Amino acid sequence: MKISANPLLAAVAPPPIPEAHRWIEGRSFPADKPLIDVAQAVPGYPPPKALTDHLASVVGEAATARYTDVPGLPPLRAALAADMGKFYGARIAASDVSITAGCNQAFCLAIMALAAAGDDVILPLPYYFNHQMWLDMQGIGARHLPFRPERNGIPDPAEAARLVGPRTRAIVLVTPNNPTGAIYPAEVIAEFYRLARSHGIALIVDETYRDFMPSDGPPHDLFAEPDWRDTLVQLYSFSKVYCLTGYRVGSIIAGPALGEEIAKAMDTIAICAPRIGQLAAIYGLGHLGDWRMANTRLMRERLSAVKATLNRNDLGYRLISAGAYFAYLAHPFAGRPAMEVARRLADEENVLALPGSMFGPGQDGFIRIAFANAEASVMPALAERLAADAAKN
Ligand SMILES: Cc1ncc(COP(=O)(O)O)c(C=O)c1O
Repeated sequence: MKISANPLLAAVAPPPIPEAHRWIEGRSFPADKPLIDVAQAVPGYPPPKALTDHLASVVGEAATARYTDVPGLPPLRAALAADMGKFYGARIAASDVSITAGCNQAFCLAIMALAAAGDDVILPLPYYFNHQMWLDMQGIGARHLPFRPERNGIPDPAEAARLVGPRTRAIVLVTPNNPTGAIYPAEVIAEFYRLARSHGIALIVDETYRDFMPSDGPPHDLFAEPDWRDTLVQLYSFSKVYCLTGYRVGSIIAGPALGEEIAKAMDTIAICAPRIGQLAAIYGLGHLGDWRMANTRLMRERLSAVKATLNRNDLGYRLISAGAYFAYLAHPFAGRPAMEVARRLADEENVLALPGSMFGPGQDGFIRIAFANAEASVMPALAERLAADAAKN
């Protein structure tokens, strides 16, 4: 007899990014029409040499090979608390911080600490696919908050209020958003916070793209709320800001009661986040402030280029939202599946973008452009190819 897989996992679709990369596997691209890869949200530049030199200098030390404390290295927890405190103009303690193996694990641990099978979580559409996948794997329901293109992708707290049920344990926000790039206004985030607090449920805010905001100033004031530790669960990633995707380091900031539950799950799953990733994060926080700011400016330039080139009436594709890292476009082929549109863009226009359908139901009219991966100078060519594709309508 053969083993059978957990049906909750078996029902989950395979990870979408490798699938998109298979579309171009083995293909070569002509010099006059090179591949424009705007599929995956990875920085198009490497980590700074100072960081990798530092890691090379510590990798041989015996201590580098050891576990860390379950919630992370104390200097990293302290440095992140200070950095977050400065960013949000708030007081955050090192003890509020749990270090995780990336922000994906941060989400998984936060959900494990908050909800059990049979509970549910409010998830705005379009969602970051791994969030939905984790909920499915855990037998936790997702109550989808409808996508509002007419609000430039900003979810409506009033609609969320109608979705809260007796077993709802959390509301999840991703801002700046993946896949839409939308940046939720502070007042909207505050409304979600008040809604969550009034029901005694968590507001999980995934701020993976926090360092790529188009303007300075804190994106929300939630850490100034006197009782934020009773409601807010903030998730963060070191992956994009210091180009550490493979080092796996992220964080959860939450109140002490939830932190204790998170530590139990972390201890069981991984004991701790990889120490080398934590050392990289400490170095980043301590030494790479200017480098981080330079990349923030670079992303702002790219965003301006995206808006200047894609926000055109004659493009066929319509820009719904663009903010940090991503732009979300409505395609011109009414009724045609986004998968088909994205495949044709890859096959005929050498543009690798993800179909909206990878980000949840009702997203067949859209494609996602991860512009962090492409230089500003590529945007006009991207616009030309989209226009050429739309002309086939
Ligand atoms: C919204 C969001 N959360 C989490 C992650 C995962 O980040 P990490 O590499 O820190 O696990 C991503 C990566 O694309 C993301 O877009």
